[in-house]
Amino acid sequence: EFHREPKELHLASDGPFGKWDKAQLQRGFQVYKEVCAACHSLERVAFRDLAGLGYNEAEIKAIAKSYDVPSINPDTGEPATRKGIPADYFPKPYANETAGRAANNNAYPPDLSLITKAREGGAAYIYSLLTGYQNQPTELLKQFPDVKTPEGLHYNPYFANLNIAMPKPIVSDGQVTYGEGAPAATVDQMAKDVSAFLVWTAEPKLVNRHRAGMAVLIFLIMATVLGYMAYQNIWASAK
Ligand code: HEM
Repeated sequence: EFHREPKELHLASDGPFGKWDKAQLQRGFQVYKEVCAACHSLERVAFRDLAGLGYNEAEIKAIAKSYDVPSINPDTGEPATRKGIPADYFPKPYANETAGRAANNNAYPPDLSLITKAREGGAAYIYSLLTGYQNQPTELLKQFPDVKTPEGLHYNPYFANLNIAMPKPIVSDGQVTYGEGAPAATVDQMAKDVSAFLVWTAEPKLVNRHRAGMAVLIFLIMATVLGYMAYQNIWASAK
C-alpha cells in the first residue's frame, strides 16, 4: 500500500477546551490569500466574517477594498467589477467551472470553505497533502509500472489516487512574508497555518459551540446533584 494516512497535526482549536489561535488564523489567511486564492475559491466566507480572526472594522474594510468583486455596470448592464465591502464574499478566481478546468489540466480546484469537513482527516489531511509532495517511489513503479505519474499530475501519497492535478503550492520557505512576532515562515509552518485557517472557515463558531456545550454540561451536572440532594431531603423522614 502506497497511500498514506494523514500525519499528526495538533491545533489550538482541537478538543472540547480548544481555543482559536488568532495569530495563526491570520497567518493562515495570508497564505490562502497569497497562494491558494489563485486557484481556489472561498465562496462561503464574507470579509466581515474575518472579525472572527481578530481584525477590527477598519482592517476588514481595508481588506475588502483590496479585492475587486463582480458587479454590473449600472449604465450599460455589462458585467463589471467594483471594490469590495465587508458584506461581500470572497471573489472566485475563475468565472465558472469550465474556466477553472481549462486553467488546471481539466481538474477543478474545489472551493476551500468547507474542505476540512469534506475530507476525511480534516486539517491533518490538508497539512499532509500540502507537505506530502515527493518523487514516486521506485518500489511502486517496479510493482505497478502502469501507475507512473502522468504528465501534468504530481505524486502525493496522501491524495486518494496518488496523483494529484494540483502542483505543489507551498514550495519554499519564506514564500509568504509573515509579520513581526510570527514564527519563521517555513513550508511546514505555512502548511499548518493555512490548515488551521481552513478549520475556521469551515466552522467559525466551533469554539463558541464547545464553550456552550461545556456550560450546558456543568449545568446538567449541578442540576443532577441538586435533584439527588432534594430527593434525599424530601424522603429523609420516610426511612
Ligand atoms: C485540489 C488545497 C493551492 C489547484 C486541492 C484540494 C485541497 C487543496 C485541499 C483537494 C484535494 C482532494 O480532493 O482531496 C490547496 C491549498 C492551497 C492550494 C490549501 C494553498 C496553500 C492551489 C493552487 C492551485 C491549485 C495555487 C493552482 C495552481 C488545485 C487543483 C486541484 C486542487 C487543480 C484538484 C486536484 C485533483 O483533483 O487532482 N487543493 N490548494 N491549488 N488544487 Fe489546491
